[in-house]
Amino acid sequence: MIKYKDIPGQYTVDKFLAMHFGEDEARRKLGGLDRKIDYTKKIAYDHEAIHREIFQFYERVGAQLWRSRADALALYGASLYYNPDSPQSEWHRETFGAPRYREMTNEQYFGAPCAERAAGKPKSDYVDQFAFRRRHPYIESHLPTLNALFDSFNFPIARVASRTLNGLCQIGNGWHVDSADSYVLQLNLCINNNGMFGLEYKTGELFIPESGELCIVNTSFLHSTYCQQRCNYQRTALVINILPWYHYDPTEDGWEPNEYFGKIHPFDMVTQGIIRFGD
Ligand SMILES: [Fe+2]
Repeated sequence: MIKYKDIPGQYTVDKFLAMHFGEDEARRKLGGLDRKIDYTKKIAYDHEAIHREIFQFYERVGAQLWRSRADALALYGASLYYNPDSPQSEWHRETFGAPRYREMTNEQYFGAPCAERAAGKPKSDYVDQFAFRRRHPYIESHLPTLNALFDSFNFPIARVASRTLNGLCQIGNGWHVDSADSYVLQLNLCINNNGMFGLEYKTGELFIPESGELCIVNTSFLHSTYCQQRCNYQRTALVINILPWYHYDPTEDGWEPNEYFGKIHPFDMVTQGIIRFGD
């Protein structure tokens, strides 16, 4: 097991684990995430209760405008998972964009996280996706439905953000790729929708989810948030990252490969029912 405290400061957690356990080679053997998966599912939890709890979180703990763009007035939300090494004042917002991207052109900005991960960033950096590994304490003490939802996942989760779009603002055309290399499954769980909001791929495919429906995002294909037309509606979604190849031990604060590491591609783990979501 590799403990967080033993990871040298110049490596993100995912990069160090990959080096230590030979993940790159295992991934090369099985192929990257640059193949398509069509997976949608309605969760078993009360999405209206989750909606209320998310807004209670915004009200009591805080909501944050997206920090990576000066003109991103349509998007606000919060980090629901955090890095315990960060100052407590950052916990509810530290994954909700990063001010260092604000001066970039759109072209630079949408490629930046991928480029930065490839170039290497220090431990606890914004792109250190495994580091945001703890559930916010306000959720643990006050928000039972969100707790039950997160407890229901049978693999470790990290870097969970709640994202709310204001339908009165300009939305869409934010074409980007999140990750093609690391094995992290990104779920997008729609908490409410008026039928106008969705996820669009540059290939032309469009997914308009119902409230309480989730999809696996094909993060290695160009995609963007979509809104059909301006509307007086605040749409909320949860973005949840799943670690398919590692076990995380919260007591030891460390990771070790699980029985699927190097053996099954994460998409096959989903289609074979090994990874379950929101049951
Ligand atoms: Fe994305």
